[in-house]
Amino acid sequence: MRGGADRAVPRPRSVRVELGERSYTVRLGQGTLGDVGREVARRTRASRAALVTVPGVGRRYAGRVLRSLRGAGVRAERIDVPDGDATKNLKQLGRLYDAFLARGLDRSSVVVALGGGMVGDLAGFAAASYLRGVSFVQIPTTVLAMVDASIGGKVAVNLPQGKNLVGAFHQPRLVWIDVDVLRSLPKRQRAAGFAEVVKAGALWDADFFARVERDAEALLDLEPRRLLPVLERACAIKAEVVARDERESGVRMLLNLGHTLAHAVESLAGYTGVLHGEAVAMGMVHAARRSEALDLAPGGTAERLETLLKRFGLPTELPAHPRSAYLAALRVDKKSRDSRIRYIALRRIGRAEAVTLTPARILPAGWDRRKRRGASRTGGGKA
Ligand SMILES: NC(=O)c1ccc[n+]([C@@H]2O[C@H](COP(=O)([O-])OP(=O)(O)OC[C@H]3O[C@@H](n4cnc5c(N)ncnc54)[C@H](O)[C@@H]3O)[C@@H](O)[C@H]2O)c1
Ligand SMILES: [Zn+2]
Repeated sequence: MRGGADRAVPRPRSVRVELGERSYTVRLGQGTLGDVGREVARRTRASRAALVTVPGVGRRYAGRVLRSLRGAGVRAERIDVPDGDATKNLKQLGRLYDAFLARGLDRSSVVVALGGGMVGDLAGFAAASYLRGVSFVQIPTTVLAMVDASIGGKVAVNLPQGKNLVGAFHQPRLVWIDVDVLRSLPKRQRAAGFAEVVKAGALWDADFFARVERDAEALLDLEPRRLLPVLERACAIKAEVVARDERESGVRMLLNLGHTLAHAVESLAGYTGVLHGEAVAMGMVHAARRSEALDLAPGGTAERLETLLKRFGLPTELPAHPRSAYLAALRVDKKSRDSRIRYIALRRIGRAEAVTLTPARILPAGWDRRKRRGASRTGGGKA
């Protein structure tokens, strides 16, 4: 047994995503990349696989995955797409369909995504639509993709008009996480992923939030014995929320904590320079400050959240765009209904709640001068 032979390697863990006949397992381990083939074969019964990845990730890890798949009797070939969220588009989608056809992928084949959320979303949407849908497996290689993007079945590509405008719900058959691959992930990318881990605690589980507070530095350093259980719980929270609300009509909305302003920040930055997780960190602190100002959350909530995010090296102040620019960006938010927005507020650490607010209430006049704790209370009142 791996764990018995080497005490430094923690035992693998599993999280079940309960969705009836579409249920699947998220498997987390260390040094397990070469074991994925057997599980793919067992869970999909596919005889052919397309391994979709980006060059930087494929160069390091595709060999092991391909060998593992072939060793399990699956004819597997690697298909590279260019890196970067700008290539999560219709042109690359078309190239994937061409590559699938050229390699003889049929209804019984499997598409395996090896990479961050960008690869997962693109390959996943290709799998959802090719021949009206083929099996799909996720091997996420970023923190963000492990705890967020690879679970829940949302797959999409961007249009020139906006992000994730064409997509589907297509659940994977298996999510395979080997934390060793995170060693090559730049620290800034790691930190951005931990923003979503902090988010999971903030909206759902105060004990888990406290655990992340205890271990922040060790987590950023990828200490396996601390990391594995934390990733496991973050995956379990996402799984639990998705199981309750697969199509995002109710509780799944809570996962958007910090995201209303994050999307505005990303769009105002032209989707360059600021990472998604960084924007989420800013948006969450803003949400917590607003929740305090609206007397929804007790004082100190925002400060506690901000302190933790800063330990991951994450930014917590919104960039200094004019308020009018933010309000305009908020109005085109996909989640807006008329001019009112379902905004995710915090009741306390560990509990989020959707409230309906206008953009002007989300970002009140003088937000940039009065954002310090306590000062924004003058703008208060019930939501
Ligand atoms: N489907 C969902 O529910 C969902 C949820 C959140 C985000 N997303 C999507 O996910 C995408 C963002 O995902 P992301 O943050 O993983 O970004 P990403 O996939 O663009 O990866 C970030 C960078 O890290 C590199 N990289 C990935 N793994 C690596 C590794 N192990 N070692 C070294 N480099 C590595 C990538 O090549 C890339 O340059 C966006 O497209 C977003 O829309 C989807
Ligand atoms: Zn997010």
